[in-house]
Amino acid sequence: MDIWHVRGGRKLKGACRVQGSKNASLPILAAMAVSPLRAELSNVPRLRDVDAALRILRHLGCRTEQEGDRVYIDSAGMTRGDIPHELMEEMRSSVIFMGALLARCGEARMSLPGGCRLGKRPIDLHLAALRQLGAEIREEEGEIVCRGGKLRGTRIELPFPSVGATENVMLAACAAEGETELCGAAREPEITALQQLLCAMGARIRGAGSGRIVIGGMVPRPALCARIPFDRIAASTLACAAAATGGSIELLDVDAQQFSTVLYFLNRAGCDIITQNSRVCLSAPPRLCGVGDLRTAPFPGFPTDAQPVLMAALLRSRGRTRITETIFENRFRQAPELRRLGADVRVSGRTAEIRGVERLQGAALTAGDLRGGAAMILGGLAAEGETLIRDEGHVLRGYEALDERLRALGADIQTEICNEEKSDGDDKSDAPAGEQAQ
Ligand code: EPZ
Repeated sequence: MDIWHVRGGRKLKGACRVQGSKNASLPILAAMAVSPLRAELSNVPRLRDVDAALRILRHLGCRTEQEGDRVYIDSAGMTRGDIPHELMEEMRSSVIFMGALLARCGEARMSLPGGCRLGKRPIDLHLAALRQLGAEIREEEGEIVCRGGKLRGTRIELPFPSVGATENVMLAACAAEGETELCGAAREPEITALQQLLCAMGARIRGAGSGRIVIGGMVPRPALCARIPFDRIAASTLACAAAATGGSIELLDVDAQQFSTVLYFLNRAGCDIITQNSRVCLSAPPRLCGVGDLRTAPFPGFPTDAQPVLMAALLRSRGRTRITETIFENRFRQAPELRRLGADVRVSGRTAEIRGVERLQGAALTAGDLRGGAAMILGGLAAEGETLIRDEGHVLRGYEALDERLRALGADIQTEICNEEKSDGDDKSDAPAGEQAQ
């Protein structure tokens, strides 16, 4: 259990470099299993989810090493195609290894993935698409067993632009015979980052960002160096934190295009925003104003992952905002907790109405998921007095050194972190799990 102590009432001010992207890192780490290679990845965020992905790679027989924001991976020694439940349940992205293992080993065996409880989160689109590539998939004793043998390229139409299903097809299709045309694909920037990485690995792939991706197999390269792009949701969270406190912030190493919808609504709420090269400057009025109707949507629409933090920034706004969550069934879990601060947030089904209040008062809250936990930290920054957030380790799954970054901007925030190191077994070295046993 991590405990966040937040004393509010201070305007955030200053410049901040944004962390590397969690949601780009995870599929890129899964891609390391697709072919035997040595890779050096930089700007990799230090996150619990990244640690979980590295544990999976080591379990599969890869070597990994981490030095600051650099990760070195050698996947030549990979020996297995199964992932145990305890590694699968740590995060949703573990399911992306299915496509990678099918490409590398022609088989994969794993249980259903874990991750934030934002709704049902089935993987039917993943399985349907991989079956179209020729994989035989069945459930056996609570596990999903995939046998691919020789995958065959084909035309796949996704009925919904699922990020995860798109990534799984991109990885599996690298080993398919012939060309795969993936239509209705997700267009998130993380998909483009994965395409760039796969091209550096020797894949023939194009179209990421357009909704139609064509994958024409791979001629594996033995080594690569790649940089993880910035985290557009972490950037959105820091911008909302400055807005929630009536402060100002300069975000460094960012691409405003990737979170332009968030900046659009912060501007509508009264913030002055200047974007220049790889910097975004935002300065907020003492009180924001409501922004009317807002709907979350797949990229380039408003990101569902930024919905909770924008909600938190608008708790003390003048006027009303109505947010409709179209991606997940259960993504307003932060609302009842934010109401403990004195906020007026009314949830009905997939719509939340925020009626801004003059003042918020610190309280004891409990985080139920990653972005909801971040929203509570922002609520605490906007409240008077102390807010205490009990957090079963959600926030540090996706935010790197959030307390340090906020303190550098003038926030009064302390964190008691429960450092429960998860090991690969009885030895902590970065050697593959198999070798440790010897
Ligand atoms: C990715 O999750 C992100 N995670 C999520 O961020 C993000 O919220 C989500 O995309 C949407 O943008 C990572 O990239 C690691 P989806 P993913 O498949 O791949 C339904 C965060 O906070 N669906 O696009 O799981 C599903 O239930 C996380 O960083 C099916 O019905 O999202 C959901 O309602 C949270 N069947 C919707 O589609 C399927 O087979 C979007 O899911 C797959 C998905």
